[in-house]
Amino acid sequence: MNIHGIPTRTLRADPARRAIEIIDQTRLPHALHWVGVGTLDEAAHAIRAMLVRGAPLIGATAAYGLAIALNDEADDTRLDEAIAVLGATRPTAVNLHWALARMDKVLRPLPPAQRSSAAWAEAAAIADEDVAQNAAIGRHGLELLRRLPRRDGRVLNVMTHCNAGWLATVDWGTALAPVYAAHDAGLPVHVWVSETRPRNQGLLTAWELAQHGVPHTLLADNAAGLLMRTGQVDAVIVGADRIAANGDVANKVGTYLKALACADNDIPFYVAAPRSTLDFACANGAAIPIEERDGDEFRLVHGTDPRGTPAAVRQLPAGEAVANPAFDVTPARLVAAIITERGACPASRAGLLGLYPEETA
Ligand code: MRU
Repeated sequence: MNIHGIPTRTLRADPARRAIEIIDQTRLPHALHWVGVGTLDEAAHAIRAMLVRGAPLIGATAAYGLAIALNDEADDTRLDEAIAVLGATRPTAVNLHWALARMDKVLRPLPPAQRSSAAWAEAAAIADEDVAQNAAIGRHGLELLRRLPRRDGRVLNVMTHCNAGWLATVDWGTALAPVYAAHDAGLPVHVWVSETRPRNQGLLTAWELAQHGVPHTLLADNAAGLLMRTGQVDAVIVGADRIAANGDVANKVGTYLKALACADNDIPFYVAAPRSTLDFACANGAAIPIEERDGDEFRLVHGTDPRGTPAAVRQLPAGEAVANPAFDVTPARLVAAIITERGACPASRAGLLGLYPEETA
């Protein structure tokens, strides 16, 4: 996507320096700040502390993190250690484990001396495939969007939750790829952007939609039901962190409530995700691990002071008990379709296997 008019991916690899650069997303939307990642610990920290976030970008960063880990030492012990460290960073997004398993499958059979260059090549392949797959999701999603009735007669009003856009992937996004495709094709589209407490990923969505010139409006999470009830939403599209074999979807906490409100208001609820988000080994949503994050994400509100310096304000005392689950599970029966790089399908085992018959075995 173009940022400040320049085609930009969210992750820049520099194989010559054997390091990468990422955007520190904790500083957005106030500052676009690139940081270098040159060690295994820095890569793990970037994922755990959510400098990078969003399932596909977590996967690509983990792949490069493994390549970085093997820069100077690449025997089996180092490979095992690096996979364990990166694999323990965040539990819900299966793309992390998918990417590490794919890297391991390529690297393990090689002699240690060949592993470093192979790791950089495989990480680059994962990043490039993510870009191509998201572009394909955009094309398939656009076909669905074109067919939707527009309640106001002109503009298509799409609601999204969290950030499943350019910033959550290497490029284009998943849920936002069809939105960008629609906007670029001249289909008038407006996006309702849910704030997404407590980490406020909706602010990231608003920022990147603004970069691309897509009309949008932010709303507090609790306003979504009212907007649906009053006919201001034509469709909801979200991304996913893991989709179980039966079509149940884990995504940012609050997604389930939006799906429920869609069902009550006859609004299609779509989930957009690439193959790396599908977990055919996971029977249903009950088996998906839900990340519980530090309660201070809830107790403190982050922003900037009047000079633009990052600042946190305490809204709850340190000892106040809070629950902070980062994700929830939406049952397949509430999902109108899953949009993948191979097309759209019903959220069911049969639907997914129809698109990925090689997973039947
Ligand atoms: O905790 P986050 O910000 O990593 O959660 C991100 C989401 O829930 C996204 O919706 C999901 O990863 C899909 S990203 C294309």
